[in-house]
Order: sequence, then structure tokens, then C-alpha cells
Amino acid sequence: MVDAPALSVEGLTVKFADRGGDLTAVSSLDFELARGETLALVGESGCGKSLTALALLGLVNPPGRLEGRAIRLDGRDILGLRGEAMRRLRGNRIAMIFQEPMTALNPVLSIGAQIVEAIREHERISRPAARERAVALLDRVRIPDPRRRFDDYPHRLSGGMRQRVMIAIALACSPSVLVADEPTTALDVTIQAQILELIDELKRETGAAVLLITHDLGVVAEHADRVLVMYGGCKVEERATADLLRTPLHPYTRGLIAARPRLGVDNGFRARLTEIPGMVPSLREMPRGCRFAPRCPLAIDACRIAAPPLIPVGAGGSVACLRIEESRVSEFASGGAGAS
Ligand SMILES: Nc1ncnc2c1ncn2[C@@H]1O[C@H](COP(=O)(O)OP(=O)(O)O)[C@@H](O)[C@H]1O
Ligand SMILES: [Mg+2]
Repeated sequence: MVDAPALSVEGLTVKFADRGGDLTAVSSLDFELARGETLALVGESGCGKSLTALALLGLVNPPGRLEGRAIRLDGRDILGLRGEAMRRLRGNRIAMIFQEPMTALNPVLSIGAQIVEAIREHERISRPAARERAVALLDRVRIPDPRRRFDDYPHRLSGGMRQRVMIAIALACSPSVLVADEPTTALDVTIQAQILELIDELKRETGAAVLLITHDLGVVAEHADRVLVMYGGCKVEERATADLLRTPLHPYTRGLIAARPRLGVDNGFRARLTEIPGMVPSLREMPRGCRFAPRCPLAIDACRIAAPPLIPVGAGGSVACLRIEESRVSEFASGGAGAS
């Protein structure tokens, strides 16, 4: 299946059983990820980005559950896989780098031992051979003096070095898809840039596809080929990065871009996306129609009746908004002015 995309997600839905019925946290999400491509997943906190990532790795636990048509990894549907079968894929064909490496690393095992464990979990290989491979991986993620560092425990490493170890573990079995959930949020700006460059470089070398979750549009501009914007668990816009940043179409995307601290002015301070008035609704309070309508300066009655369908735009893009034409020409949301 050489021609199949690395990942193809069809109708992915994440629900939580709740007293009053099911709560839908991710709603019928479709997207594809080609080999060697980086797709950024953006949206404010609570939009369903992490759950999407966890769903791909089979890590949504009860009371959560997945529904949908398919999650195709290298052409093979893994949506229904459970237990051991899913565990074998995880780290092997699809791997994840978490936001806070300290919580994902085992504090009482040396970093070398953890990489060896990751390798041996998926491959029949002798301990000495796995050890050599682990040293090579540490070297590959640019950990200086890897042979000596091998026996260090996670707490002896800086945040950036720990994230490099996480990347080494993720790479241990050359996955087709690498999911990175805000991989640099906990790091300072210089280290952030180095880690993201490392991910880019490894992607080029291995041909892996990368799903990069971030709230930083500067990161999107530099590292993503395409962008998928989520709001309230739904895809609201998906475009090539340059198109999205130049001519965002969904009012939510426009709000995110307007809320972004200006380059050069933010001095490394990455503002949280709080400038769009209002908040992401909780799962119990999702509006019936467009989920962004309560915060949208362009919303009309029709937006509140039914969720708008995704409409194709431009080269492979799509937008779920009834007001695209109005959004194109409006001046709203630029720093809060003109939002009437
Ligand atoms: N275990 C859970 N039980 C119930 N609701 C959850 C659970 N995990 C996440 N949620 C809800 O699902 C929504 C999406 O969460 P998440 O994917 O973590 O958002 P993001 O990563 O975009 O910040 C949020 O409203 C969150 O409160
Ligand atoms: Mg998250």
C-alpha cells in the first residue's frame, strides 16, 4: 500500500459517558496525513486537540470511547484495535511526544534503559545490540556524550534534554506517524526552536508524517505544511499553511490570528489565545448550531440552527462557515476593534 497516506482519519468521534447522556469531545473529524508532511492541529485549550491525539494512539480510556468510520495507519484500519494489538502498534507504527516529558518518562529508570525498553518492546534484539542502538539514538537527537549520558536518570537532565530523550524513544522503532502534543510549551524559546528543528530534520530523514499540536501560530508558520483548526471538537478550517495565514476564512481562525502577539513585539513571550471574547464552551454546554456562533461577530440566526457543513475552498482546503464571504471582507477582531 505504497500510495496510501501515512494516516487517514474518517469520522473520528470521542465521546464520554455522562450522567445526562453522552458528551461529544471530538466530533466526526476527517483528515489525512501524507508521508513526510506536517499537519498542525490548532485551537484554544479545550478544543479537543489532545483527545484527538490520544484517540489515534488508542489511549482514550473509559468513560471515554471512540466512534467513527476508520483510522487508517499505512492503509490498515486500527480504529477497532484494543489491548495488545494496539499496544504493539503504539511506538512502532505511531508514536507520541507529550507536552511534559517528565510525566512521560519513568523517574526511576535511566534514560538509556528506557530507550532500550522501547526498542525491545517491539523488536527481538539482544540487550547489547539494543544498547548500541539506544546510544546511537541519543546521539541522533543530539544529546552530547551519549555513552556517558545513557545511565543518567531523567531528573538529571534539563527540560530540553528530556524532550530529546522522548523523541529518541518515539523514534526507537521508526514510526510512520509521529504525534507531538505541544512538545515545546514547557521549554524556553531557544530550546523550543531547537526541538522543533530536530523534529523537522528527523521527519525529513525518516519520511514520517507529523501531527503537530500547538497553540503557537509562529510555530505553525515555520513548521507546518497544512493546518487544521479545531473548535469545540469540530474541524472549522483546514488549509495549506501559507493560505491559512494569508487569508484565514473562518471567523475563529481570523480571531486566532488577530490574537497572536506581533512578531518582534512579544520578546519571546507567547501570549495565550485569550483575546477572542468569550470562552470555549464546556462539553455540557455545546451550542446546537455552529459551536463558535456565541463568540462570532458575524453570526446570524442560521448559524445557530444547525452545524455548518465543511465547504471546499482553494487547493484541498475546507471551511465550516455560512459566512465565509462576509468574513473575507470584514474588519472584525483585529485587536478587539470593529467587532460589532
Ligand atoms: N477524561 C475526560 N472526561 C471528560 N471530559 C474530558 C476528558 N478529557 C478531556 N475532556 C474534555 O474534552 C474537551 C477536549 O479536551 P482536550 O482534548 O484535552 O483539549 P485540548 O487538548 O484542545 O486543550 C475539553 O472540554 C475537556 O474538558
Ligand atoms: Mg491539550
